[in-house]
Order: sequence, then structure tokens, then C-alpha cells
Amino acid sequence: MSKELGILFDLDGVITDTAELHYKAWKKLADSLQIPFDHKVNESLKGLSRMDSLEALLGSQSDFFAKEEKEKLAAQKNQDYRNLLEGLTAEDVLPGIKPFLIDLKKREIPIGLASASKNAPYVLEKLEISSFFDQIVDPSEVAHGKPAPDIYVKGAEQLGISPSHCIGIEDAVSGIQAIKGAGMLAIGIGKAAILKDAGADLVLADTRELSWSVIESLIGKHK
Ligand code: BG6
Ligand code: MG
Repeated sequence: MSKELGILFDLDGVITDTAELHYKAWKKLADSLQIPFDHKVNESLKGLSRMDSLEALLGSQSDFFAKEEKEKLAAQKNQDYRNLLEGLTAEDVLPGIKPFLIDLKKREIPIGLASASKNAPYVLEKLEISSFFDQIVDPSEVAHGKPAPDIYVKGAEQLGISPSHCIGIEDAVSGIQAIKGAGMLAIGIGKAAILKDAGADLVLADTRELSWSVIESLIGKHK
């Protein structure tokens, strides 16, 4: 790896913990459709796009809904999710993230966001950290959602840095697979066994552990 380096972040579960808000909004929809939905199912939706999540939630019932009906259901879930996001503040940035962003900025490392969420710009605004991001990938501009590598490939392109010189940070299996598929080094946040299995080059239990020395040592190991 040369001196050139770009860092791409996932949003939900890495920068802020919105998984519970997604859960609440999906649960409300699932209940109204009398489809069983719990935290375990929600876990498997992490990283998936809104429509892919809806398909997973509907499961075998998917065929009973027309495309327009599905779009309505997804819009309904999103409205509930947006209402929940209104309560988000700068306090909701996960521990260690802000100091890490400040340090990367000081070192002039280009920073990108590669989130599947169409609400990402709004969430960054609510968290008051938009200015740290040089590039935000618009998920509606990529052909395939995570676990496909498209969003990370696009992120590297937007930063103007080769994927082999980028590091991606993710909390979900689908996200780690996307980073690795794009040919980047992957840092997983969360459960070591699962994320290592998905291909993570390094797993940190907590966002508090993110630091420049972690980045340097990861690069050093893969020179
Ligand atoms: C991902 C979340 O970041 O964004 C998923 O992990 C979510 O749970 C996806 O479904 C899409 O988000 P949105 O905000 O566009 O519905
Ligand atoms: Mg995530």
C-alpha cells in the first residue's frame, strides 16, 4: 500500500446505532401484515437496501404483493423511520467516532460514506458530522446493493483512490463481503467470529478502538 489512502465508512451500526430504529419501523409494518418479525430477523437485514429488506421480511408472502403495493409498504416504513430519526442528535454518534474523524481530517485522509441508506445525508446532518465527509455515495446510483461490492467500488471512484488503497469499516456481514469484493481491506466492528468468517481483515469489538495506530498496523501487515 502506498502513502495514498482513503477510508470509507458504513453508517448504520458504525457511526451511529440506528439498527433499533430500523427494527421499530419494520416491526410496526410486520405487525400490521401479521408477519412474524423479531430482532434475529432484523439482524439479517443489516446492510441490505430498503427494498431488499422488505423482500426478506415478506419472505414467502412476497408473491402476494404487487410492485406498487411493495413500494407503498416501503414508503410507509420509511415514514415511520424518518419520524424516529427526528430525535437523533450529535450525542448519538457512537463513542470514538468523532475523535477518529477529527484525526483523519488532521492527517488529510479522504473520507467517504458507503451506506445503503437513502437517509444517510439526513442522518449525518442530525449527528452534525456532515462536514467530515468528502464524498457520500448515493445508493440509488449503484446497480447492486450489499453484499455486492458496487457501493464500495463507487466510493473509491468518488474519492479518486484505487480500491486497493482504501479501507472500509462495517458492522454487518453483507457490508464486509461488499468491502472485500471491492478489493479493499476491511475492518469489522462487532462480533469477531462472524465478521472474520465474512472476510474481515481485522475486527474491533467497539468503535472506541478505532484509531490511527490501528490503521497503520493493518496497512503494515498487508504491505
Ligand atoms: C442500511 C441499514 O445502512 O441501510 C439497513 O443497515 C437499511 O437496515 C438500509 O435497510 C437502507 O436504509 P434506508 O434508510 O434507505 O431505508
Ligand atoms: Mg451497518
